Amino acid sequence: MNTILITGAGRGLGYELARQYAADGWRVIGTVRSAQAKLPAGVERQIVDVSDRKQIAALASALRGMALDVLFCNAGISGKRGMALGSFDYDSWEEVLRVNLLGAAAVTEALLPNILAGERKVIAMMSSRLGSIAEASGMTLPYATSKAALNMLVKGLAATLASKGAIVVALSPGWVRTDMGGATAPLAPEASVAGLRKVIGGLRAADSGKFLSHDGSPIPW
Ligand SMILES: NC(=O)c1ccc[n+]([C@@H]2O[C@H](COP(=O)([O-])OP(=O)(O)OC[C@H]3O[C@@H](n4cnc5c(N)ncnc54)[C@H](OP(=O)(O)O)[C@@H]3O)[C@@H](O)[C@H]2O)c1
Repeated sequence: MNTILITGAGRGLGYELARQYAADGWRVIGTVRSAQAKLPAGVERQIVDVSDRKQIAALASALRGMALDVLFCNAGISGKRGMALGSFDYDSWEEVLRVNLLGAAAVTEALLPNILAGERKVIAMMSSRLGSIAEASGMTLPYATSKAALNMLVKGLAATLASKGAIVVALSPGWVRTDMGGATAPLAPEASVAGLRKVIGGLRAADSGKFLSHDGSPIPW
């Protein structure tokens, strides 16, 4: 049976990822921040705030010896709404970097033995088109810088882990109707996640270090 761990699985894209993989017969470990968070049927709960290194260490201890085919670092925040040049809130910006960048790095580092013990050895980072330097518009800079840095983490890990057979990718879900994406976003979580799962299912060693959209098309860095 294939096993996946998804961070931030209590709502939004993480919930839908957990739901679809579980429905497909995968063993799914979903991390949430609160014991009250709702998870799809069959999904195993772990409590983790990805900005809390002690909780990440406890997660690694709890999962010691468990092979993971896919690690999906999905948890993310956009920071205070409306931040722009002239009104940056640096505490909020720091929090965005702590969750979106350092959280993903720390979870990956802690669970590396689990991933390398897995058959597929896939590390998927939930990036965003807003993290593309080539397409930079100046919009939502705190969030965009966190995803651009996450993309560099992907490239670096792909190079570092190539000899160990790991496949590391940055994935963009598109603009999706979640709490973060808002009600007017064009994509439903079901469609975005179906696309992301197809992309993950088709990954080969040569894809490591790529930045891919939910429809499989490459995004310029
Ligand atoms: N929606 C879009 O259009 C869109 C576009 C591009 C990229 N993305 C990316 O997709 C990912 C999921 O976003 P979403 O749209 O599903 O957003 P969402 O509905 O706001 O969900 C965010 C998820 O991240 C979790 N999370 C936040 N801070 C956390 C922390 N410190 N530790 C652990 N978990 C934490 C939340 O858990 P709680 O319930 O505990 O808060 C929640 O499960 C994010 O990385 C986001 O940047 C989304």
